[in-house]
Amino acid sequence: MPLIFKGVDIVMYKQNAAAKFKSMANKKDWNILAFETSCDDTSAAIVRNGRIVLANVIASQIEIHNSFGGVVPEVASRKHIENINSVLENCIKQAGMRYEDIDAVSSTYGPGLVGALLVGLNAAKAAALSLDVPFVGVNHMEAHVCANYISSKELEPPFLCLVVSGGHTQIVGVEDYCTYKLIGQTQDDAVGEAFDKISRELGLGYPGGPYIQSAAEKGNALAIKFPHARLKSGEFDFSFSGLKTAVLNYIHNNKDASINDIAASFQYTAVNELVAKTVSAAKRFGYKKIAAAGGVAANKLLRETLRRQSELNGMRLYVPEFVYCTDNAAMAACAAYYKLKNGKYDDLSMNANPSLEIGQV
Ligand code: KG4
Ligand code: ZN
Repeated sequence: MPLIFKGVDIVMYKQNAAAKFKSMANKKDWNILAFETSCDDTSAAIVRNGRIVLANVIASQIEIHNSFGGVVPEVASRKHIENINSVLENCIKQAGMRYEDIDAVSSTYGPGLVGALLVGLNAAKAAALSLDVPFVGVNHMEAHVCANYISSKELEPPFLCLVVSGGHTQIVGVEDYCTYKLIGQTQDDAVGEAFDKISRELGLGYPGGPYIQSAAEKGNALAIKFPHARLKSGEFDFSFSGLKTAVLNYIHNNKDASINDIAASFQYTAVNELVAKTVSAAKRFGYKKIAAAGGVAANKLLRETLRRQSELNGMRLYVPEFVYCTDNAAMAACAAYYKLKNGKYDDLSMNANPSLEIGQV
């Protein structure tokens, strides 16, 4: 079903923004449609009141990028354009809704690949304009954090969140629904990038995380001692380029070594680094709740180790269900809900920001 254009023009839309928001604020339930196209997943979701997922449709491009050994930005943008309409139609169908039932539209506007971001962002703006409802842009990393609200209905800030994806590795203090404090982050490679590069070098597939994880399950995590990073910067910062290079060198110099042992030893070292710093930051800043977010948070060893260490230290652990760890639009709709609740909406002139920082407004 095509979107019905009500004849609203951009000037009128802008002039009526406050009135639109006000009439929305009077409603009991908010159904938010969101788009997520920051990397290689084309996704649209409808979420009610931030936590009830009515539909979450994801068109994965993994098969295409797998043949290149990583995401090709131009290919990703083109595929998003090809997929976005059918993803939206399936989303509306899955939710059993009409377009008139949507109260606001959102999209990720950064960080991510600029050409990819622009597809979801423009789809969201077009939908908001044609439905004459508020539009709000969300930060992809904040959306990853918000995935926890969907999976743990009782979770409320403050808590500490380890955010681990293909491009980011951060320890974030979530002070309130829209207030984030960056406590530490990687000084070079993201941990997900290390998983992806090592998987490629081992001749496994893309994205590397799930391949490394299943190889590691058959290997000995103590077989090879890889180095832990020594950092001169902040106590809660990370560095994964040294570990990645050590593993890549080991692969080149030990052609007959067991792939499973290499995967297990690398995963063990990376996970211990992530967990040790997260728990120690939680202790230092007095957080009683720890959460994890982002694609790497789907890692079983990371989840188990975080759970064990949180329990040992009297803290409660929250992790999103697997589908909400990797990129999806439901988490973006959740982030949009809390932004709107906070009285924030955006103009249709909003641009994509590929290097948007967490907490940046
Ligand atoms: O959050 P995400 O889907 O996209 C970005 O925002 O980057 O994260 C993708 C990253 C990839 O590096 C992928 O290898 C990693 O998440 N990943 C995993 C697992 N599943 C996905 N890493 C470790 N173990 C997994 N099970
Ligand atoms: Zn992501």
